[in-house]
Amino acid sequence: MIPSAPKSIPVVAIDGPSGSGKGTIALRLADRMGWHILDSGALYRLVALAGQNHSLPLDDEASLEALARHLDVQFLGGKVILEGEDVSKTIRSEECGKNASMVAAIPGVRRALLERQRAFAQGPGLVADGRDMGTVVFPDAELKIFLTASAEERAKRRYNQLKEKEIDVNLRSLLEDILEDIKARDARDSSRRTAPLRAAEDAIELDTTELTIDQVVESVIRHMSARGLIEVENQK
Ligand code: DC
Repeated sequence: MIPSAPKSIPVVAIDGPSGSGKGTIALRLADRMGWHILDSGALYRLVALAGQNHSLPLDDEASLEALARHLDVQFLGGKVILEGEDVSKTIRSEECGKNASMVAAIPGVRRALLERQRAFAQGPGLVADGRDMGTVVFPDAELKIFLTASAEERAKRRYNQLKEKEIDVNLRSLLEDILEDIKARDARDSSRRTAPLRAAEDAIELDTTELTIDQVVESVIRHMSARGLIEVENQK
């Protein structure tokens, strides 16, 4: 008897620029569906942090690639453990984000992380959050969503997050700094030669500037239903 081909794992790819709400939306969807989640940005942040811990300059491409290939990392119940240390908070800093955007431009680093990212596709399904989920990592994803929002709105969201965390800094100048940083990161992520930030041809683009988180989640759920990825009665 010919064994049947393994049933492919459904993947929903959520791509978009920094601050477009990908992370929050991906978490909410994965939670609702009981699916796995891949926060691919965290992997680039981890390579940047590990590089810093090992005193590697951001332009030492060969060493950063080797580091990415052998990265000792575990995702444990929402915590991120790097080389035995809980770095869940450290990797969320603005500095780590900026460094991540630089290491993410190194083709060898992206190659080294490819299989590691694909291994997250486990049953019953995966919500994959990043910049190149629909274009490079999961080109056959059942559903590809590309979230956008104006740079000003994204800066405002990030600013409110920091304010909530009561970060002790001058918040007015911070908003301007964040906007500048977001624009610089957009430019770097979109103009790099390997896997630049762009919507896949078959992606559905959603502008979230004027939408609440709930509205975006509902919209993605409707697209999932339309593709037969979710039973209507599964919806809360
Ligand atoms: O989503 P994030 O802010 O955690 O991502 C940090 C950086 O990593 C971002 O500036 C670009 C890079 N990145 C990437 O190049 N490809 C991905 N799939 C995810 C993130």
